[in-house]
Amino acid sequence: MKKIVQIEPWIGLDESNYIKKIVSKTLLTEAAETKKFENKITRKFKSNYALAVSNWTNGLYMALKAFNIGRGDEVIVPNVTFIATVNSVIMAGATPVICEIDEKNLSFDIDHLKRLISKKTKAVIPVHLYGHCCNLDLLKRICSKKKIKIIEDAAQSMGAKYKKKYLGTIGEVGGFSFYGNKIITTGEGGVILTNNLKLKKKLYELKNHGRSKKGIFKHDSIGYNFMFTEMQAAIGNIQLNKLNKILNKKETIFKLYKKELSKIKDISFMAPVKFNKPVYWFSNIFTKKKNGLKKYLNDRNIQTRDIFYPINFQPCYKKTNYLKLTKKKYAVSEKIFDNGISLPSSYSLSKSQQKFIIKTIKDYFNQAK
Ligand SMILES: Cc1ncc(COP(=O)(O)O)c(C=O)c1O
Repeated sequence: MKKIVQIEPWIGLDESNYIKKIVSKTLLTEAAETKKFENKITRKFKSNYALAVSNWTNGLYMALKAFNIGRGDEVIVPNVTFIATVNSVIMAGATPVICEIDEKNLSFDIDHLKRLISKKTKAVIPVHLYGHCCNLDLLKRICSKKKIKIIEDAAQSMGAKYKKKYLGTIGEVGGFSFYGNKIITTGEGGVILTNNLKLKKKLYELKNHGRSKKGIFKHDSIGYNFMFTEMQAAIGNIQLNKLNKILNKKETIFKLYKKELSKIKDISFMAPVKFNKPVYWFSNIFTKKKNGLKKYLNDRNIQTRDIFYPINFQPCYKKTNYLKLTKKKYAVSEKIFDNGISLPSSYSLSKSQQKFIIKTIKDYFNQAK
């Protein structure tokens, strides 16, 4: 049987036909097609401004730079995330302060976060992992009292909401990633969202060599080259048209896993915080029998993926002083890593494939009794 992959993008003829049309134009660097992409995003997510960038890691870095966050400053980040969240803080020269996560939504443990705030705290980066979020009202209250910026890492949560707002539009700045396995993709790429015009101007300069438009060679600030391309925008514009279908299918996939697998007492699921309407980028389950299950599925051509490896364990930070670790043991992060597994969650997953996955998981737990 053909391998069932954990995740693959939904890319087809629509993208390839449209990109041919765009590539036949003269300029491939950021121009009209990118503007169209940004405009579509501002309309869909009800954000005043959207800036497409080369990738979301750079987007996070730019957000930190736009707030002048750097050496001597602290930024609170969760202990379970894709490593780019943490590295963007290191890139800016600031110190990532590592916060424990909440077992249910895998975002900040807000009680722990409160204890980590110091005079040096300039920003927090809530990561809306797997399309979920923490209590954002509470986070906002805490941060606004202390004038701490909220930079939302919504890389994995395009389309999810908290109350009536889209994740990524709730903090001062937020954004999505369009990396190959994300909800929609442009290969590499990202977008920064903000409602603040002054900030948007700063961010644009940061991505465009420190100038307010192309074609001028007087640079007001020191910037970088984090521009988008017309090829990425062409794919992105087609992908955006598919967004609702992708989100609906991922939700259908999650609901079937949940309906069938919650009957197994060894399996649990994430639970969204009040007011969060999540998206189901990946369908995750949690079980003490993770390693056995993973092997059993893999032997039957079903690919799975681990939850992100906790930051406090990452080998790359060993023997460095880049991180501020704030606990001897991040017990929840550890437990989530030990028990968490992402099941196949692609748009392309067929009902019969999913039924086979569910049956295989049930077989495993029956024989493991
Ligand atoms: C939570 C999170 N933050 C940041 C990133 C970095 O985004 P990019 O790959 O577009 O640089 C990713 C994904 O890759 C991510 O999942």
